[in-house]
Amino acid sequence: MAEKTLRVSKIKDGTVIDHITSGHALDVVKILGITGRTGGVVTVAMNVPSEKLGVKDMVKVEGRELNSKEVDKIALLAPHASINIVRDYKVVEKQRVKLPSVLRRIVKCANPACVSNSSEPIQPTFYVEREEPLRLKCHYCGHIMEKQDVLKQF
Ligand code: CTP
Ligand code: ZN
Repeated sequence: MAEKTLRVSKIKDGTVIDHITSGHALDVVKILGITGRTGGVVTVAMNVPSEKLGVKDMVKVEGRELNSKEVDKIALLAPHASINIVRDYKVVEKQRVKLPSVLRRIVKCANPACVSNSSEPIQPTFYVEREEPLRLKCHYCGHIMEKQDVLKQF
């Protein structure tokens, strides 16, 4: 790095969501339910120069390790992100997010008449038709959901 100073400092404990497609950092923040009104330090960096991506976004959440459901949600809006769990300044776990081809329970169908919204014990299920921009198709009613529809639920 040719820079004289670190743009964003390292964290001691928590999660670094790295290689977020630029423009998507705030979606990731929203998905994690981060409002900034409670909890620890959260750093959002946008349009950071990156060798792999040209520019990227990054979110650092101190004092919190993401669970697998949260990682799946991030995959919906930032399918190329990597999740780094940091303990005592070291990256102890690095995970590439991966959007599965079938999503169960993560997203609800926006069609009120869909059987998955009835009182039947049915798990909402979607097929990923396209990753970026996101396009999901409901297994039960064929309803199409895009990024904005998904964001409304989180
Ligand atoms: N990081 C951090 N605090 C730490 C350790 C790492 O904020 N204590 C951040 C780094 O700045 C980087 C990300 O976590 O954005 C991943 O760290 P690392 O694996 O050390 O970097 P790279 O090897 O460059 O990662 P990759 O191969 O995924 O690009
Ligand atoms: Zn449906």
